[in-house]
Amino acid sequence: MNFYSVRGGTPLSGEIEIAGAKNAALPILAASIMTDETVTVENVPDVSDIRAIISAIESIGTKVVKTSPHTYEINGSHIVDGPVDDDAVRKIRGSYYLIGALLGKYKHAEVSLPKGCNIGLRPIDQHVKGFRALGAEVRIEHGMIVADAAELTGSHIYLDVVSVGATINIMMAASRTKGLTIIENAAKEPHVVDLANFLNSMGAQIKGAGTDVIRIRGVQSLHGTDYSIIPDQIEAGTYMFAAAATRGDVTIHSIIPKHLESLTAKLREIGCQIEESDDAVRVVATRRLSNTHVKTLPYPGFPTDMQPQISVVLGLSSGTSIVTESIFESRFKYVDELIRMGAQIKVEGNTAIIDGVEKYSGTSIVAPDLRAGAALVIAALAADGVSQIHDIQYIERGYEDFPGKLRTLGADIVVLEEADGSTDDLRAQIHRVS
Ligand code: UD1
Repeated sequence: MNFYSVRGGTPLSGEIEIAGAKNAALPILAASIMTDETVTVENVPDVSDIRAIISAIESIGTKVVKTSPHTYEINGSHIVDGPVDDDAVRKIRGSYYLIGALLGKYKHAEVSLPKGCNIGLRPIDQHVKGFRALGAEVRIEHGMIVADAAELTGSHIYLDVVSVGATINIMMAASRTKGLTIIENAAKEPHVVDLANFLNSMGAQIKGAGTDVIRIRGVQSLHGTDYSIIPDQIEAGTYMFAAAATRGDVTIHSIIPKHLESLTAKLREIGCQIEESDDAVRVVATRRLSNTHVKTLPYPGFPTDMQPQISVVLGLSSGTSIVTESIFESRFKYVDELIRMGAQIKVEGNTAIIDGVEKYSGTSIVAPDLRAGAALVIAALAADGVSQIHDIQYIERGYEDFPGKLRTLGADIVVLEEADGSTDDLRAQIHRVS
């Protein structure tokens, strides 16, 4: 097991490039198997969740060739009809996209139930409701979701909750039905739009992605395509808030500014200077930032995946801030770690009441999940002294070369190896591995 050692206190400064969006790449790679022709996907981030979905599609016979560090050629013409029960599948939540992809293409899917981030109960009832509405029989057996249909037929589906995963899964299956499917109360996240654009480039007929109502006219078959994934708005946002927390000056390239509007608005509100151009954003913080209230909401609201990062920044801002988590039920697990660094935060239900402190102090902390892990690294970068961040496998699920990119911004962060796989940093070897 590796961990990060961070000496805090240096304002981040410089320029970085953002990778492709993990949460767009997961469904797009899953949907690549929906044709027997070759699909080329570019701008795929090099993170462990992506390696897991690649391993999952390979396990059922998909031919995958990595032609460059961020480009894959995928051919799903030799898929064998069997369960997707690769070890990798159970590790990632995005593996459930294989249900929509396989059901649409073969009218049969058998996929292990996913795990994913440890941020509370994550039901999949809306996915199941959608598949059933299209005519599939869905059951859960021995830890697997099994979906079967003699034929899929378009349907009118109203989602009871705005769900990114359910919107995406239904869009995939519905693109290979007979007739028209209408998804109401659909998720509007940029990666929903990216998947729709990808499927349309394969011959699907999807309209309205990015609005509440998506219309999908089923087609007989899909064909090969060459597609480049959108930039990762959460990776970009993480560096924006890292710049803010360390009172730095960071320019983030290869982004779509519109996808970051809820973040730039909050950063401006608390006192950062933001400069935007066509595909870059510069974040400058020259003084102590001020307090605000934030509530996480589906896009275009403030993303739940940025809630820990903004909380870390508000923990250092003047005054009292209130952060309300309205998407996931237990997404404040990192607060205990932050309190160990000197933060003054009280969690009541789904609300964190944050009294800003002048400084955090470095210590040994454990990443509870992907985004909270990144947020704790931001806290360590802003803290006095040295911190060790353990369980970084969570962070590696979604951030490409996080320590390397931070180092280009002047951060003092190294990857070290635990002596015996425990999280006892005192026994860690000082053995630099990155
Ligand atoms: C996706 C993202 C995740 C992000 C989340 C919200 C991926 C791989 N993950 O997760 O990073 O935090 O969107 O933007 O893209 N719900 C139900 N029933 C369902 C499905 C969802 O009740 O069938 C609830 C969930 O418990 C949650 C809310 O709906 O409270 C939103 O979940 P959803 O949008 O589905 O999140 P994911 O797609 O799992």
